[in-house]
Amino acid sequence: MATIIGGLGTSHIPAIGNAIHKGLQQEPYWKPFFDGFPPVREWIAAQKPDVMVIFYNDHGLNFFLDKMPTFAVGAATQYVNSDEGWGIPSLEPLKGELDLSWQIINTLIDKEFDVTSCQEMLVDHACSLPLKLFYPEGNYPVTVVPVCINTVQFPLPKAHRVYALGRAVGEAVAAWDSRKKVAFVASGGLSHQLEGERAGFINKDFDLKFMESLVSNPEWATQYSIHELVEKSGTQGIELLAWLAMRAALTVGDKPGVRKVHSNYHIPISNTATGLIALEKF
Ligand code: DHB
Ligand code: FE
Repeated sequence: MATIIGGLGTSHIPAIGNAIHKGLQQEPYWKPFFDGFPPVREWIAAQKPDVMVIFYNDHGLNFFLDKMPTFAVGAATQYVNSDEGWGIPSLEPLKGELDLSWQIINTLIDKEFDVTSCQEMLVDHACSLPLKLFYPEGNYPVTVVPVCINTVQFPLPKAHRVYALGRAVGEAVAAWDSRKKVAFVASGGLSHQLEGERAGFINKDFDLKFMESLVSNPEWATQYSIHELVEKSGTQGIELLAWLAMRAALTVGDKPGVRKVHSNYHIPISNTATGLIALEKF
């Protein structure tokens, strides 16, 4: 059976790609963000995952407003980054873990999550930047399965439902007939709002409570409705649903707890409160 080693969560602002491209990591504006990553990279290097299952949201690239699956799972041999143009100019394609994709899709359908399966799937900054942040030297030593959650167009899935989805994905991975080591990745958040009257909205108090809940009380955020979560975290802060799915995926098996390896929180990068977390299954 496959081994679940832990989970990683990071924000995914496109300007991060631009900063990497221009080598700005040590500039005062960027340093507090990029300085969070070395301990996380050390943990990844020690754990050596073979596969990353990435919970993220598409931003109108692969799914536009005319067709918006609530949950979609990639089942392709590769995922080409095709960002909207203001991030890093070129990022290597992500290699797919096809067998695990179908293991996850079959398990989810069996558990009555009617997901969209995508045998072709373009990915944007949300799916591709985390890998570049974890493996800055490139030539990624992992394959991936992208799991896309609609955080863009209402109606959005409830936190409670996303938690159940994450757990079902965890169960699918735990039952996968493979000797590979798997890490879950969450891409998104934390609090931010890019448009409207509250543009620039950030809620540090809520973000820190949410990050803490991922360690000690993973279902905490499921007490809130989607509208309450948008109120607390912003219209794009609701991307935190990916973090919730990642944490839920870690609750399966005989070791349901996690140990926090490292976390970082910095305000703001662009319009976003940036978060980073690494959780080891314990
Ligand atoms: C920003 C944040 C996001 O999550 C995103 O997808 C695009 C832009 C920002 O803060 O600039
Ligand atoms: Fe986003």
